[in-house]
Amino acid sequence: MPAIDPAIEPVLLCASDALIERGDAVVFEVQQWRRKVGAFVMRFEGRVVAYLNQCAHVPTEMDWQEGKFLDRDREAIICSIHGATYDPLNGRCVGGPCVGARLTALRVEERDAQVYWYPSSDIKPMPVALPRDDGTEESPP
Ligand code: FES
Repeated sequence: MPAIDPAIEPVLLCASDALIERGDAVVFEVQQWRRKVGAFVMRFEGRVVAYLNQCAHVPTEMDWQEGKFLDRDREAIICSIHGATYDPLNGRCVGGPCVGARLTALRVEERDAQVYWYPSSDIKPMPVALPRDDGTEESPP
C-alpha cells in the first residue's frame, strides 16, 4: 500500500450505495508516474477495496466489460486476458500465470456514506483539462 502524502487531499469517488456487495466496480482514472492508468473500487465482504486496473501478469486492463472484475462465482477478481485470479480483499494472485504477485492497492476509506481515495506520492488524481475559449479542452501537462 503506498504511503499517504499528507499534502494530498482525499478524492471523492462515489456514494457508498454505488458499491453493492460483490457487484460491479466503479472505475476511475489516476496518474501513475505521469501516465494515465485505470483504477477501480468495489465492495467485497462488506469492505471497500480499490486497485489499479493492471494485471500483475502483463500490465493490461483486466475487466471484460467496464466495471466487471469478478469471476462467475463472484469469489475472485479475474483477469479477462489469461485468467489470473486475485483475492479481492488483498489483491494477491491466487491462480493463473502470476500466482503470488499482487495488484497495486489504493488506499480508500468509506465515511459518511461516501467513498474516498487517498492519492500517494506515486499515484495521483488526473489533472483537470481546462476549457479554452473556443470550447475545446486544453490538454493537461
Ligand atoms: S494479462 Fe492478466 S492474466 Fe495475463
